Amino acid sequence: MESRTEGLANFLVYDDVFFNTKMRSLRDISVMFLRALNRKGTVLDTTSATGVRGIRYCLEASIDKAIFLDINKNAYENTKRNVELNRIDGTVLNEDIRSFSCKSNERFSAIDLDPFGTPVPYMKDLLSIGRDGTLYMVTATDTAVLCGAHANACMREYAARPLHNELCHEVGIRILIAYAVRLAAELNFGVHVYLALSNLHYMRIFFELKRGSTNALDSVRQIGFGSYCNKCHRYYYAPGIASAPAQVCESCGGRTERFGPLWLGSIYDKGVIAAMLSHSSGASDEAISLLYKVYNELDIPFFYSIPKLTAMLGVGSISQNVMVKELSKKGAASLTHFDPSGIKTDVPYDDIISELKTHVTTKAMR
Ligand SMILES: C[S@@+](CC[C@H](N)C(=O)[O-])C[C@H]1O[C@@H](n2cnc3c(N)ncnc32)[C@H](O)[C@@H]1O
Repeated sequence: MESRTEGLANFLVYDDVFFNTKMRSLRDISVMFLRALNRKGTVLDTTSATGVRGIRYCLEASIDKAIFLDINKNAYENTKRNVELNRIDGTVLNEDIRSFSCKSNERFSAIDLDPFGTPVPYMKDLLSIGRDGTLYMVTATDTAVLCGAHANACMREYAARPLHNELCHEVGIRILIAYAVRLAAELNFGVHVYLALSNLHYMRIFFELKRGSTNALDSVRQIGFGSYCNKCHRYYYAPGIASAPAQVCESCGGRTERFGPLWLGSIYDKGVIAAMLSHSSGASDEAISLLYKVYNELDIPFFYSIPKLTAMLGVGSISQNVMVKELSKKGAASLTHFDPSGIKTDVPYDDIISELKTHVTTKAMR
């Protein structure tokens, strides 16, 4: 057993109970999220392990009370002890998420799901206990599945075709959001996405349920498909459940690879991210720097990998920052947290290619 401190929580980690110090930044970001939205009421920490998340939400955000679930007996004992140590208002249950959801009538202001691997087995049950305005914070660590290393598993679990290249993390997280949106729509809810993060070995989405068939339909309409040209690395996307993005590449005539269905709507509520940054006291530098990256990132689907384009053109390397500066003269452009070598831009593909060629020629002539 070891004793630890994180944020305002002092807690014990029992020998065989899961705790990952590397996830601290994500816990900090979750605290900042609840602070920014100033949510009171009860949080449901569905996969508590040591209970550190729910405890921090009570100590560091305006949450009044937490209910903790863990199927593992030692984790249950560990959380109980930590709830006492931190003197928060908490109820700890040694229970499976699914059996708890079947009988719960409680109103939760926020629900945290942080399972081993995929969140798929729990999503429907947890959405079914949500109400209008319930916040969800959902982690997925089945990134190999969502990123296309196991495409069949992705098709089976998320009913979606992934992409196994530089866009894989963004495509994967948008597949995860679309999955949540489809389930929410069945329950007559739409979804407002506040934030979607891909970092280390995890993906995490933050969203709120919005009751009503109009909201549900509005959300479903933002699901669509994408296609990718493996020859010239151009991508296409089209919102709509029956949409068909380009099958043949408009730049090189190559056959494209189709992916989706996936969420093509906004993934960054910049107003809320700014509020999170202004409520960052006690957060780690890593959490703050990740949020700043996202705050400065264009909120449009996908990006171009500059090294991939320069390799295809057979030209020398160009720094991402220089490209962002050059492309910003023609449209909007930013770096992306999804890939350190990627650029998000609304400048058309053919203009990006011309810019890369011009820049390299000018550089060679100097
Ligand atoms: C990745 S750990 C959670 C880590 C924790 N949220 C943190 O930030 O330190 C996943 C936890 O979920 C628990 N778990 C797995 N399946 C569960 C289920 N069906 N219902 C409730 N808890 C479950 C495991 O016992 C484990 O303690």
